[in-house]
Amino acid sequence: MKDEILRVQNDAVAMIRAAADIRALEEARVATLGKKGSLSALSMGMKDVAKEDKAEVGQLLNAARLEIATSLDEKQQALEEIADRAALAGIDVTLPPRVLHPGATHPLTLLRERAVGILRRMGFALADGPEIEDEFHCFDALNTPADHPARNAKDTFYFDSGKLLRTHTSSVQVRTMEKCRPPLRIIAPGTAYRRDEIDSTHLSAFHQLEGLYVDSDVSLPDLKGTLEAFLHELFGSGTAVRFRPHFFPFTEPSFEIDVKLEIKGQAPRWIEVAGCGMVDPAVFEAVCGSRKDRVYDPDEVTGFAFGMGLERLAMIQWGIRDIRLLIENDVRFLRQFA
Ligand code: PHE
Repeated sequence: MKDEILRVQNDAVAMIRAAADIRALEEARVATLGKKGSLSALSMGMKDVAKEDKAEVGQLLNAARLEIATSLDEKQQALEEIADRAALAGIDVTLPPRVLHPGATHPLTLLRERAVGILRRMGFALADGPEIEDEFHCFDALNTPADHPARNAKDTFYFDSGKLLRTHTSSVQVRTMEKCRPPLRIIAPGTAYRRDEIDSTHLSAFHQLEGLYVDSDVSLPDLKGTLEAFLHELFGSGTAVRFRPHFFPFTEPSFEIDVKLEIKGQAPRWIEVAGCGMVDPAVFEAVCGSRKDRVYDPDEVTGFAFGMGLERLAMIQWGIRDIRLLIENDVRFLRQFA
């Protein structure tokens, strides 16, 4: 029996040492320590061993089990090390690393996020509407009659269906009032489209940020205070802001807003940044018509609206001279905002 144990132990260790890979090692483990393995078979013989020899044979069996288990562990470690080394072979750790260029946020996105952030803190909620609009929401409901130049096919992209690419985000004013009851305080950043010749200050697809505030007692000082506070936060508290009388079909009175700014090296000058005004009662009437109720009765509610060009604001913010830089995706330009 004792010889038999030693023989099994030696055979097992030899088999383990000879294992060429993890799979062969696993087979050796099963063949020796496994339930039907050689050592287990020997242990079964314990019951036939004479009583006085039992202790010694038991010890030998334990020693054999330990020896085999240790060999298995050692071999496993050795094989894993070989596998690791093989995996690293062919990798030259002295090669210079590949430089990763981190992406950057587009200046227009940066500007939009700042503008939206300021207005949201003032209590304006985000709203949106479709870029493919119908004439009612883009023009009629905004008191813009059929003979208004903005509706001309020369200025607007029409589809055969009669729909069009919205020429301004003001259509979102109408859509939001159709859906929601007053009081209302929303902003809607989005794309607008015009048949403009592309040059250093015009694009045919550009971005606006629309705003609308409707309640029972909104007045012109609310409009001025809100937009002045907004522009001061965007461009600095010392920025001079001026409201210049203007005309929009959907606001009365209407204004254009200018800020006095110094663009790199040039003498300070007034730059137009937004259109705004008090919502025209005709717009509320149109909304009442499509809602089929009177919650926007112009005798009950008043409101102000504004719209600004985001490209224009970005150009002022960073002294960008040509609007086309914002759509050319030239990394030398964009990298400056990283
Ligand atoms: N929609 C106008 C434009 O595109 C801007 C505007 C919005 C003016 C809201 C007044 C009120 O020029």
